[in-house]
Amino acid sequence: MKTPIILGIESSCDDTSAAIIQGKKILSNVVSTQKIHQDYGGVVPELASRVHLQNIVPVVHQAIQLANINKKAIDAISFTRGPGLLGSLLVGTSFAKSLSMSLNVPLIEVNHMQGHIFAHFIEEDEKKNICFPFLCLTVSGGHTQIVKVNDYFDMEVLGETLDDAAGEAFDKIGKLMGLEYPAGPMIDNLSQIGNKDKFKFPLPKLKGIKFSFSGIKTSVLYFIQKEVEKNPNFIKDNLEDLCASVQKTIISALLDKIKLAIKITGIKNVAIAGGVSANSELRREIIKLESDLNCKTFIPKFEYTTDNAAMIAVVGSIKYEHHKFSDLKTVATARYKI
Ligand code: KG4
Ligand code: ZN
Repeated sequence: MKTPIILGIESSCDDTSAAIIQGKKILSNVVSTQKIHQDYGGVVPELASRVHLQNIVPVVHQAIQLANINKKAIDAISFTRGPGLLGSLLVGTSFAKSLSMSLNVPLIEVNHMQGHIFAHFIEEDEKKNICFPFLCLTVSGGHTQIVKVNDYFDMEVLGETLDDAAGEAFDKIGKLMGLEYPAGPMIDNLSQIGNKDKFKFPLPKLKGIKFSFSGIKTSVLYFIQKEVEKNPNFIKDNLEDLCASVQKTIISALLDKIKLAIKITGIKNVAIAGGVSANSELRREIIKLESDLNCKTFIPKFEYTTDNAAMIAVVGSIKYEHHKFSDLKTVATARYKI
């Protein structure tokens, strides 16, 4: 029997993406990141959905071409149903529905956050296989969660952020320092040559598995305002050290809670997922848990950290195996829990 071929479609925020997967092997993964939002310092929902409309057909077409298949070879279509920006989700959802009707193949809805976690099930050469149960620190621009993954379709959110997400904190603090959106990758780069102990920002004092990043943002804001009054060039003169100190604070907050989750659950398989899992300091610190706490750690390939359709396609593939299909009545959902 032929291994099923699935088309995955992702359009929850500002990336239009399509991927083709066969079994758990990615044949293509095309991501078109919308540049227009850089002029506004953050994603403008109305503009995002319009650009998805322009991009979706060429992106899907390119994914099919790069996979070197005929569209008639597609066995099912998986798409991001939510969570995300409603207007953006509507574009991918409507497109997936119409294509499934015209190709007469089943439709599979995917939760975006589940997609980030499932990126660990993509088969690649020379990769450690992840095994259940595992803890996944899922950190993106919209979410910060620690999820206990018991099985493919049995996940429990152990704790999440009470306010901003970790990626949002990187982006908003970056904006305060005059960096372009999204600031996370730039802060990561500048931190490489900065002194992370130069400035101290307070860590949130929260009991249990909970995160909060709005306090760090406010303390950086007040600190910068005060220093700029004394020296108008303060940010420019200290940019790398500011970045490294902010990054250290955010990553320590994440690390404290993943360590707590390991202690509470006794689970030593630890994964990271989502856009912020591209962060070099977070990756280094998570790998250190192998020697410090005897953990097995799982770090995703860079291309599967920020939003991409490969992760949506792999959920599609696994749901296909388990006959978990959706019908045409399914609707895009801005708030959608895993
Ligand atoms: O998963 P993602 O692409 O989109 C959402 O689902 O939100 O995550 C985007 C977030 C942005 O906030 C971006 O600044 C952050 O991930 N990010 C990073 C890095 N690369 C992306 N944050 C810190 N360090 C990075 N290297
Ligand atoms: Zn995401």
